[in-house]
Amino acid sequence: MNYEKFRTKYRNILVTGGAGFIGGALIERLLKFTTSKIYNLDYMGYASDLSRINLLRESSLRHILLKTDLSNKNSVYDAIKESSPDLILHLAAESHVDRSIDNPDIFINSNIIGTYNLLEAAKDFWRNIPDLKKQNFKFHHVSTDEVFGSLPDNGKFNESTPYDPRSPYSASKAASDHLVKAWNYTYNLPIILTNCSNNYGPYQFPEKLIPLIISKLIARESIPIYGDGNNIRDWLYVEDHVDGILLCCNEGIPGQNYCIGGYGESTNNDIVSTICDIFDQKSNIKKSSRKLISYVKDRPGHDRRYSINSNFISKQLNWHPNYSLEKGLELTVDWYLNNQEWCHKVVKRANYKGERLGTN
Ligand code: TYD
Repeated sequence: MNYEKFRTKYRNILVTGGAGFIGGALIERLLKFTTSKIYNLDYMGYASDLSRINLLRESSLRHILLKTDLSNKNSVYDAIKESSPDLILHLAAESHVDRSIDNPDIFINSNIIGTYNLLEAAKDFWRNIPDLKKQNFKFHHVSTDEVFGSLPDNGKFNESTPYDPRSPYSASKAASDHLVKAWNYTYNLPIILTNCSNNYGPYQFPEKLIPLIISKLIARESIPIYGDGNNIRDWLYVEDHVDGILLCCNEGIPGQNYCIGGYGESTNNDIVSTICDIFDQKSNIKKSSRKLISYVKDRPGHDRRYSINSNFISKQLNWHPNYSLEKGLELTVDWYLNNQEWCHKVVKRANYKGERLGTN
């Protein structure tokens, strides 16, 4: 990754959702490896947390939090005006499928209306900036492979897979992707779109599968596997995802979409068992924690399989993941074992007690 090139192009960066899991990893990287000013637009919702950014000493100088709700159009215009961005990295989204089943409203507002407001504010800003800044400007929209629907036992998603979302969450992300593409096609706004597979790693809010399992293991509570546990996800370590996003901003072609997968396909059964074994080894537990696994009622509309073919981004931008699933899981289990206070803090603030969500 050529950070020198990045630094010269993007001095002011507006990151939306920078207090979230992927956004936090991205901002940490930007603060460590660039000299850019980072404006972090985040509404500081239930899963937002700034611990990771606050650990970096330079954060107070180059990191500016703009506590803004994307569904408020005037505030979004104000945020763009204040940050005068060379690059917008749009990561803000409600992202938990189970919560989208219980309460789709929030997903429609944040993911669809929020993206629309940001696109409009970005377009109006971009049209009125000097030529050089206009040439370099990019709007990078971070999305998910879930917009492509569910795969059978074979095949993989790629850049030309048709959209077929099935949950309120994936439908809201698909809608936002369509808006982003339309603003590129109709108004020439220089957008880049990435669709990633399931992210995991440190600082993920413990409602998603991997941190939830680790939290349950630490608490010695039963581990809920939905349905028969043979659903497949393609796990991507968050740092590899950050590499992909930055490469796309540096070298990507405006108007292009890129798929970023982790080469980490696993059934839920396999990943849960592996995490139990890593946990037992690290915590010196003699009786296998696998006995905590329990099969619970399936998620409504549970997608069977996701898998990404990452050949395009590998060939075009020389992106390759650095973390195997085994290595990533080990690092993640270690991190949660050593950061239980962080977990307690964030779940308490969100009033989340590890209960089952999304059964409506
Ligand atoms: P999740 O982390 O919610 O991501 P997504 O649904 O966006 O892929 O879930 C990953 C997989 O794990 C998915 O197949 C649902 C399953 N799952 C469980 O079996 N038990 C759980 O408690 C959770 C949260 C998820």
